[in-house]
Amino acid sequence: MNVMFVCLGNICRSPMAEAVFRDHVSRNHPKMFGTIDSSGTSSYHIGDDPDERTVQTLKEHNISVHHKGQQLKQRHFDEFDYILCMDDSNLSNAMKLKPKGSKAQVLLFGKFDPERQHNGIIKDPYYGGMDGFEINYQQCLRASIGFVESLSSN
Ligand code: 4NP
Repeated sequence: MNVMFVCLGNICRSPMAEAVFRDHVSRNHPKMFGTIDSSGTSSYHIGDDPDERTVQTLKEHNISVHHKGQQLKQRHFDEFDYILCMDDSNLSNAMKLKPKGSKAQVLLFGKFDPERQHNGIIKDPYYGGMDGFEINYQQCLRASIGFVESLSSN
């Protein structure tokens, strides 16, 4: 099972989601997943390191992150079973890119958060402060647990 996390820039939310999810499954479900990756719907930050606020927030939770920004491509829909998006705009842009016949499931990651904070939207923290990144982290953690549980109960 291969999972791709998607946001706009691939420097704040989706590298965080990727790192939090990888940390969770490596400790609790080590054989369940293959490739875990992240990308952005835009080309703004191709090749860039994650935003320092994402790095700092993850560090506070003892998680390290190593990623270079990349853009979501049509080929990813063949390679990944799940394309988990942070907000409605990411979801609709990913759906536009999805090739006909692709079996990839394109879903909102935050819908797997049992608390459904912000109605399952993991909000863009780019123009805000550190508090937005901490909220993103908490949503990613609960959604990671919820996503794995939803697969296990199928
Ligand atoms: P992300 O945040 O989509 O969570 O990576 C953003 C990063 C960069 C920009 C917007 C959102 N930007 O406009 O450059």
